Amino acid sequence: MKIAMIGSGYVGLVSGACFADFGHDVVCVDKDASKIERLLDGVMPIYEPGLDELVARNVQAGRLRFTTELAEGVAGADAIFIAVGTPSRRGDGHADLTYVHAAAKEIGEALTGYAVVVTKSTVPVGTGDEVERIIREAAPQAQFGVVSNPEFLREGAAIDDFKRPDRIVIGSEDDRATEVMRQVYRPLYLNAAPILVTRRRTAELIKYAGNAFLATKITFINEIADLCEKVGADVKDVSRGIGLDNRIGSKFLHAGPGYGGSCFPKDTLALLKTSQDYDAPQRIVEAVVAVNDTRKRAMGRKIIAAMGGDVRGKTVAVLGLTFKPNTDDMRDSPAIAVIQTLQDAGATVKAYDPEGVEQAKKVLDNVDYCDGPYSAIEGADALAIVTEWDEFRALDLARVKSLLASPVLVDLRNIYIPDEVRAAGFDYTSIGR
Ligand code: UDX
Repeated sequence: MKIAMIGSGYVGLVSGACFADFGHDVVCVDKDASKIERLLDGVMPIYEPGLDELVARNVQAGRLRFTTELAEGVAGADAIFIAVGTPSRRGDGHADLTYVHAAAKEIGEALTGYAVVVTKSTVPVGTGDEVERIIREAAPQAQFGVVSNPEFLREGAAIDDFKRPDRIVIGSEDDRATEVMRQVYRPLYLNAAPILVTRRRTAELIKYAGNAFLATKITFINEIADLCEKVGADVKDVSRGIGLDNRIGSKFLHAGPGYGGSCFPKDTLALLKTSQDYDAPQRIVEAVVAVNDTRKRAMGRKIIAAMGGDVRGKTVAVLGLTFKPNTDDMRDSPAIAVIQTLQDAGATVKAYDPEGVEQAKKVLDNVDYCDGPYSAIEGADALAIVTEWDEFRALDLARVKSLLASPVLVDLRNIYIPDEVRAAGFDYTSIGR
């Protein structure tokens, strides 16, 4: 199959490279000439484990190409994926569809024969109808189908998630388009991934409902963690105790500083906007958004409390800045609010992150960025672990203690065992234990 991928960001690049790896002929398109130039040189625009090798292998095999010319990718393509960004619109939180609509218009102008146009970007319900209308307007005679095919991959595990998805969702209004999509995904469902074909609007909603549900699960356990602290229970055991019930499931029940990233914050807000527009309030999701927003600064205050309540003139070492490990993504990372809260209270912050420092510098001022965990810890009055990178899981505690001015350890990801760290002489604070 010939596939065009419009937008070579996280989803577009990973999906394009994986489709190529399955033997399809893929052209990735992006308007950003410098991004395409770097990709042609083998330089990835994002940090994602295994991606550079996957891209190199498929470029070499001639199955994966990059271009800034949309028409070049669209010519002769069986399936044209729209994987451009849908950021939160400034001011009202609606998904900004400018890039999706612009791509649809250009695709319409470039269509050469029957093709299926696939929205892979996370788009509000009804966007497929609008994409269809725009293409029809640009190309009144063209033959095409428009389907919704949401992507569920996670950053940091993107390639594996794409290749071994829990399910593939295809929202389609006609059989011809559905059949093309079945061919596109043939290698994956041969891998036993169930394929769910629904109407287009249903598929669009599945993505938002899924992300909102996961955000709810996280937020639920975070509030239970707060209760655990008050009543003297252990949230890790509560998570395990409820997660072993198959109806609940054990995943996404890790209490922490609140969810961040490029999807949950943006998609929950967009779902709320849609629910208002259609007069079907989503009160649970409203509460989730509000609880998660206030939690991030509350985590900063938790560190301040662990340090005795006054941090003026004191230094905090922060380990982990990205919204989760194995990414360089700082978007809506809890570390931002945590650090700002510490700074607002008069503390100085030293920080280390294995991949996130470059992005962190764009959003956080006056932070002393260090080149390793121990140099960040040296001389600090407390250590706060904000993101659970593997390299923070087995720190040399004796060394940490000797480097800290006072042995205060705040573990916002529960990666240490309380008894062990206390036995090592730390004043240890974690979440919900
Ligand atoms: C998410 C969805 O998982 C994915 O299906 C969708 O396509 C995009 O959004 P991603 O944002 O990459 O993926 O990260 P994810 O691993 O889901 O984590 C999101 C946030 O939730 C992180 O800040 C993470 O630290 C937090 N989280 C996750 C918790 O606090 N506790 C958990 O148990 C799980």
